Amino acid sequence: MFLHGTSRQNKLGHLEIGGVDALYLVEHYGTPLYVYDVALIRERAKSFKQAFIDADLKAQVAYASKAFSSVAMIQLAEQEGLSLDVVSGGELFTAVSAGFPADRIHFHGNNKSREELQMALDHQIGCIVVDNFHEISLLAELCRKSGRAMDVLLRITPGVEAHTHDYITTGQEDSKFGFDLHNGQIEKAIEQVLQSDHIRLLGVHCHIGSQIFDTAGFVLAAEKIFAKLNEWRESFGFVSEVLNLGGGFGIRYTEEDEPLHPAVYVEKIIEAVKENAELYAFDIPEIWIEPGRSLVGDAGTTLYTIGSQKEVPGTRKYAAVDGGMSDNIRPALYQAKYEAVSANRISEHHDTTVSIAGKCCESGDMLIWDIDLPEVKEGDLLAVFCTGAYGYSMANNYNRIPRPAVVFVEDGEAHLVIKRETYEDIVKLDLPFKTGVKQ
Ligand code: LLP
Repeated sequence: MFLHGTSRQNKLGHLEIGGVDALYLVEHYGTPLYVYDVALIRERAKSFKQAFIDADLKAQVAYASKAFSSVAMIQLAEQEGLSLDVVSGGELFTAVSAGFPADRIHFHGNNKSREELQMALDHQIGCIVVDNFHEISLLAELCRKSGRAMDVLLRITPGVEAHTHDYITTGQEDSKFGFDLHNGQIEKAIEQVLQSDHIRLLGVHCHIGSQIFDTAGFVLAAEKIFAKLNEWRESFGFVSEVLNLGGGFGIRYTEEDEPLHPAVYVEKIIEAVKENAELYAFDIPEIWIEPGRSLVGDAGTTLYTIGSQKEVPGTRKYAAVDGGMSDNIRPALYQAKYEAVSANRISEHHDTTVSIAGKCCESGDMLIWDIDLPEVKEGDLLAVFCTGAYGYSMANNYNRIPRPAVVFVEDGEAHLVIKRETYEDIVKLDLPFKTGVKQ
């Protein structure tokens, strides 16, 4: 068993997070419940930022809010001096509603609509990460019409793809995102942006993958991009003020995972950027990164109540919880693995193997296969760790199950930051259908 951040076993033999007993949380807010360890999020944010401060470099650490977006989370990001990456009008609206400084918002996405781009212009956000030719012309048109200017980064597909330990390089990257670095697309894009009166080309962006455990992919991406920057200085007189190397830093979901400390990822990135800048005689550009998972992932724990059990004699024991793929679709979608403990009996031996099923009507709705817990009983509390990234943000109402509440805990205090959905919320957008009556 391993515990993250401030999670620990308290004197009562219960799991405690942020100084708050899990049983207290369940009594007050019910289950399933997402609990965020705020101190751990702050610590991660500081580690990423400090590594740049130590190197005395200008940088932005932008929280990729797709990992978990809510007004409170955005306000926490602001408190920690992070910038913000949004990928939709909804994420942008959340950021604006939270009062996040617009000039530190970066807008991503491979199919931003006219309305979304206009929203970005109206709020005068920091920059748009332009993904394709359609977007260049749309943005140029909207800027012209509204008389507004906008800074942009161009998203590059560098031909480096990294997943966990592996990274592959391909000549022609087959991806829906960005401009290919090697087939002339990016040069055409640069030309078009440089010709526009209202769009200012601030720099380039790439994102090579997610849940990455080493730094080789980032180093390789930096090398490839600098070789091209060198050419573009010649051909266009363009010098990139900003180099955004994306997110994707891995976290420890289970004991098999061996991520690096945030500072190590940043140090290696800085080293690669410095070396290449020197090689091609560039000033060091401002380095931006976009961690999502590594800021909030292991700070999140989901508390569930155990309900029914089933034994398949000689094969397996199932215990079902009051949530499942509706609040955590990652096991079903990516075969993601999680660790869990009995939150009300954490001090007891975890020596009975059981598989944790969700409550959705789907065989694939299994949260964890074969985990050791104390002999489970109805009403026991299960704490599944590391659900802070892509948990709530990918939650859904399959089987019309209401989405759980979200609580922030810090220094012995709990703050409800997202209310539990009600059945009324579930039917809130539904309209009646009566034949013969026109609306
Ligand atoms: N920047 C860009 C452009 C991205 O596309 C992403 C993630 C990030 C930053 C943040 O990546 P992170 O640091 O969180 O790995 N739903 C999947 C993850 C999808 C990631 C999409 N892009 C999951 O649950 O694993």
